[in-house]
Amino acid sequence: MSQLRILLGERETAVNQHGIIRRRVSMNPTRTLFSRMNGLASRRLLNDGNAIPLVGFGVYNTRPGKETEQAVLWALDAGYRHIDTATIYENEKSVGDALKKTNVPRDEIFVTTKLWDTSQGYQEAKAAFEKSITALGLDYIDLYLVHSPSPGKKLRLESWKALEEIQKSGKVKSIGVSNYGIHHLKELLEVCTVKPAVNQIEISPYLARTEIEKFCKEHGILLEAFSPLTMGEKLKDDRLVAIAKKYNKTTAQILIRWSIQHGYVPLPKSVHKERIESNAQVFDFEISEEDMKQLDKFDEYFVTEWDPTRYD
Ligand SMILES: NC(=O)c1ccc[n+]([C@@H]2O[C@H](COP(=O)([O-])OP(=O)(O)OC[C@H]3O[C@@H](n4cnc5c(N)ncnc54)[C@H](OP(=O)(O)O)[C@@H]3O)[C@@H](O)[C@H]2O)c1
Repeated sequence: MSQLRILLGERETAVNQHGIIRRRVSMNPTRTLFSRMNGLASRRLLNDGNAIPLVGFGVYNTRPGKETEQAVLWALDAGYRHIDTATIYENEKSVGDALKKTNVPRDEIFVTTKLWDTSQGYQEAKAAFEKSITALGLDYIDLYLVHSPSPGKKLRLESWKALEEIQKSGKVKSIGVSNYGIHHLKELLEVCTVKPAVNQIEISPYLARTEIEKFCKEHGILLEAFSPLTMGEKLKDDRLVAIAKKYNKTTAQILIRWSIQHGYVPLPKSVHKERIESNAQVFDFEISEEDMKQLDKFDEYFVTEWDPTRYD
């Protein structure tokens, strides 16, 4: 419970043992009270000085139109303050429509989108960014990611140059990468003028990524955990069920909490209101050190869809 005490107990800003910072987001006393009760509004510091909410709401495999719009509105109502979309998900416009409808102020919501592989390259990346920000209907995007290293060295480095320039223009606050392995990160760190703030990769107890974790930690690159629920595939694993029972929590909540305690930013996805709400209930308990070690032992290189961290 030490984390909960810290989250509720601080005043302006505090950092707890998991590297989580808490800031007052509003001078309005009602909203401040709400945000103090809502761990989802807590943030982690990025290497560029910006801060990212602890948990993101993923919208992959969420149909454009009503399904995405409704899911994002439910997520915002449940307290999520971080939405993770991508051009390839084809729902940026629907995310933007939800953002127009919500009463949550823009500056309290962290929006991520991603440059798809077929638009990599210097000019192409700039044009793709313009399309994304227009589809989202926003003045700025909080985080823009190179979706994967797949198109090869030349194109991904050109894309990064474009992202650095877009960041300078003020239209994006933070820039980062996704699905980058250590060799991709090293290649980028040799030439970049702005370090990636995050690397978004698939991570779960079943796919631990210890080496990438170590490298990113050493270089101050925050890890975002995609498919933190293993796309639902491991939620009935007996060993996980046993741990969940012990805490009177769902297996999904255990996986999300595992990610937070590792210092990652998990991005759970759901299109169901009850699951969206339940997946957010991860701030009233802490997994013991012993059980964290137990969960870490589940690692079996379980990849749900793709693993470009291993590509050339
Ligand atoms: N950068 C990348 O290459 C990349 C790749 C994949 C994903 N991502 C990001 O990461 C996000 C999450 O990953 P993901 O969508 O692949 O999978 P995920 O979050 O690991 O799992 C989502 C699946 O779990 C189900 N689910 C959610 N909550 C549940 C609960 N409480 N109980 C039972 N089932 C539950 C969902 O079903 P329902 O929706 O039907 O509830 C869905 O089938 C994505 O949405 C996207 O933003 C990024």
